[in-house]
Amino acid sequence: MSAIEQRILEKTWFYRFHLPSGKVTSTYDDGALDQIHESRLSMLKSVIDSCFGGSLAGHNAIDIACHQGWFATKLAQWNADDVLAIDARAEHVADTTLIRDALQLSKLRVTQSDVHALDPAKLGQFDLVLMLGLIYHLENPIGALRQARALTKHVCVVETQIVPGMTGMVDYGSYRFVRPLKGSFGIIDETDDTHGPEASTTGICLVPSLEALFWIMRKIGFARVELVPPPEDAYEQLRYGKRVMVVGYVE
Ligand SMILES: C[S@@+](CC[C@H](N)C(=O)[O-])C[C@H]1O[C@@H](n2cnc3c(N)ncnc32)[C@H](O)[C@@H]1O
Repeated sequence: MSAIEQRILEKTWFYRFHLPSGKVTSTYDDGALDQIHESRLSMLKSVIDSCFGGSLAGHNAIDIACHQGWFATKLAQWNADDVLAIDARAEHVADTTLIRDALQLSKLRVTQSDVHALDPAKLGQFDLVLMLGLIYHLENPIGALRQARALTKHVCVVETQIVPGMTGMVDYGSYRFVRPLKGSFGIIDETDDTHGPEASTTGICLVPSLEALFWIMRKIGFARVELVPPPEDAYEQLRYGKRVMVVGYVE
């Protein structure tokens, strides 16, 4: 076993990484979260299969809010030419780099950045953009989705918690002017969790309804937005529609 693997195996991880020696990282809560990652991975793989014929060879990708890099490593292992993994937290950038080196994934780059600070003019566009598990931790989810759109050449995969939505008409400025609701947001307080590795960095979180997510993604320039069906044995939140994965297509 290499020295890098030894360092990796000394801690408990958010994800179950399979290391070259055959050893596997231990995960939070004795693996209680493994199913959510496996379900999302199988949903993402179905998107890669249908949009890219199962291999990312000849394509580049960015994983925004990569955490410890589990999805980014999968993109590299699915033969992407170049994968850029981004996270706001320095500890995740260090962990992703460690895993990248252990798995010898030379095409995976890792950078620390807040999603709102990314500069699409400098980074260019990516065939595949991942924004998984992020927008419901943000106070400006629409700004983050606009960043994702600006970075997308072909396909953007967004996965998020959603809230029950309000529908109907509202008096808007006067009873004489009524407007239809296009969706809604729930406010979640993460102010006591901002130290947590998975949480918001500011504490104020706006969680979209499904209608809001679809409407916003179309409004900011995705030509088509589609729901990815969860597998039958998916993690309960995905199975019962409390979290969703959607794909935004540029053309
Ligand atoms: C729930 S985790 C999701 C991680 C991974 N994408 C996944 O789906 O498994 C949320 C991630 O978003 C990152 N994050 C939170 N706020 C961010 C921001 N403003 N910009 C970039 N990353 C952020 C956190 O550090 C954390 O890694």
